[in-house]
Amino acid sequence: MENKKHICLCLAHMSEAGWERKFIQEAFDMNWVAPLGPNVDAFEVALERFLGEGKRVAALSSGTAVVHLSMVLLDVQPGDEVICQSFTFAASCNPIVYQGATPVFVDSEPDTWNMDPDLLEVAIKDRLACTGRLPKAIVLVCLYGMPPKYDEILAVADRYGIPVVEDAAEAFGSRYKGRLCGTFGRFGVLSFNGNKMITTSGGGALVCPDETMKRRVLFYATQAREPFPYYQHEQIGYNYRMSNVCAGIGRGQMYVAEDHIRHHRLLAEQYVRLFSDEEAVTVHLNPSDSFDSNYWLNTITFDASLTCDVDRVRLLLAESGVETRPLWKPLHLQPVFKDAPRYLNGVSERLFASGLCLPSGPCVSVEDAGFVADLIKSSLR
Ligand SMILES: Cc1ncc(COP(=O)(O)O)c(C=O)c1O
Repeated sequence: MENKKHICLCLAHMSEAGWERKFIQEAFDMNWVAPLGPNVDAFEVALERFLGEGKRVAALSSGTAVVHLSMVLLDVQPGDEVICQSFTFAASCNPIVYQGATPVFVDSEPDTWNMDPDLLEVAIKDRLACTGRLPKAIVLVCLYGMPPKYDEILAVADRYGIPVVEDAAEAFGSRYKGRLCGTFGRFGVLSFNGNKMITTSGGGALVCPDETMKRRVLFYATQAREPFPYYQHEQIGYNYRMSNVCAGIGRGQMYVAEDHIRHHRLLAEQYVRLFSDEEAVTVHLNPSDSFDSNYWLNTITFDASLTCDVDRVRLLLAESGVETRPLWKPLHLQPVFKDAPRYLNGVSERLFASGLCLPSGPCVSVEDAGFVADLIKSSLR
């Protein structure tokens, strides 16, 4: 039998103490097998304690649903434009289109790989000049866990009075100037998909400013049911609440969340050490002390002269059982968004052509990181 190593990009990791199973078992024992229940309530409380800042949290069925409800709550409608970071996963943007609105893509700056604040302002001014209206919202992303340049971005957004939806799906536990990502925008987006920092198998959470807003979120997330004894609907709603079984996993994961974050950061340190003698490889790191990434996925870029070989490196690693992934293909390059307005500076395209995501998370050991780095280095020889 083949005894090949398999090192995956980022796998779910359950607590050794079995907290997740315990809470799922409780859901079954109490027959709370529904999209509400004690696990959902307790998970939300745990998330609120974790995030602080007086935020309230609504647990929903996915991060994508969270982005979508943010658009609904901001009254994004057909004919509106919403600015979205181009360098991200499609789920940051698709809900703009669900609402019949038009995404406007803004490129990244090279330090954090997130939205370029100067280009954001150029885009806002130009959209105003072209359409006579301001964009309805801004979807700002914390890519691979790295906080964006919040001070600069929020200053621009405030100057024009445009609300920011902070897509922190990848940034659970990341901080900017000591404050947790997901708590800066009008709404924050968390994802608990199977590959994220903590998981509920699939799920997400909408971080909102207060209890009144949380009630509105829950209203839309549970089919917009009016308070009548029969089913009365005056608005269009959604079935977006989190299952009490899934929330049991999330509740258990909160016991190990800090361990997970620590391990992702430990691997970042390892990759830096392992590539310190390899000039052709740069590990993407916090640009200054203000930034404290969770390093959800550790990422590297190759020297420009090697750009054309990145996919060869990825395939060589795959042959040895190591899963890596190209950096996100910028959304402005996606065929489905070919007609969307865009404000570009070349940064995301350069990164897409020259980078790789490396195995990360608690299922990847320090020895695994060494194995991955050795393979990459030998593939460059
Ligand atoms: C940046 C970003 N936004 C949104 C999402 C959507 O989250 P979900 O998969 O929970 O729908 C993800 C992850 O999948 C993501 O990486």
